[in-house]
Amino acid sequence: MPNYDHRVHAGNAGDVWKHFLLLEVADYLFIPDSSLAYAETHVGRPKYALSTPGDWESGIGKCWPILPFLKNFCYFNIMAEFNPGGLRRYPGSACLVLQAAQRRRSKLQAEVWDIDDEVAEAWRGYSQVAFHLGDGFLGVRSLLDHSPPGLLLIDPPYLDSADMTLAEKLLCRAKDEGWVVLWWCMMGSNTVPQGSFEKYSLKFAQAGLDGGHWDGAVVALAGSDDDLKERLERRICEFVDLTGTAESF
Ligand SMILES: C[S@@+](CC[C@H](N)C(=O)[O-])C[C@H]1O[C@@H](n2cnc3c(N)ncnc32)[C@H](O)[C@@H]1O
Repeated sequence: MPNYDHRVHAGNAGDVWKHFLLLEVADYLFIPDSSLAYAETHVGRPKYALSTPGDWESGIGKCWPILPFLKNFCYFNIMAEFNPGGLRRYPGSACLVLQAAQRRRSKLQAEVWDIDDEVAEAWRGYSQVAFHLGDGFLGVRSLLDHSPPGLLLIDPPYLDSADMTLAEKLLCRAKDEGWVVLWWCMMGSNTVPQGSFEKYSLKFAQAGLDGGHWDGAVVALAGSDDDLKERLERRICEFVDLTGTAESF
């Protein structure tokens, strides 16, 4: 089966939604001077070079002109710091979480999986992250047996028809073990998975983004407390208000 290469898609509208939520959740969970376990099933590269044309133009590129108004959000603040001379690089999910942890003086015990040899090579030298070459569903399932609970991102590429079922099973299992879980459901804003977890959907146009043939996306959240849900809802409203009215700035 051909593998999925995120390089051409990095920074797309879906990444903006996924990473915005991921960092809002991570920022809530970090406690200064303490440690948080972080796991990812399908991590991709630590960072990506953005070239033109690219999917990022209709994603993070659309937010860039109003960046000064978005710096109150952890994700956009890190994006600004990562690109002092203009938008040229995009950090992957795990690097974004690492950066967010450093800002809160929180230590991250990160364990991440990917099946791509080149992705493995790209992670060489990142001593703060334990990279595992192999299947992320199997890897995280065994991690749950011995790790303290923390934050888990499930982000499969859906090239395999089993990904949806495997992802949902892993989410339920991790939630039962006390983890807070984010699951990128991808399937467009109208295909919402059933299940007893929160679902955060965005029609990309609402936030001034363009997802090409995807009109939007859904991210599921499980294992969250009420304070986190309330905070997320408030932050999402602020985000959509600012990005959806970008033309008026
Ligand atoms: C969407 S990308 C990851 C993006 C990343 N999580 C982010 O948000 O920046 C999906 C990655 O899954 C990897 N992959 C595909 N099948 C996998 C599997 N069975 N287990 C782990 N990784 C896999 C691909 O090599 C690819 O790098």
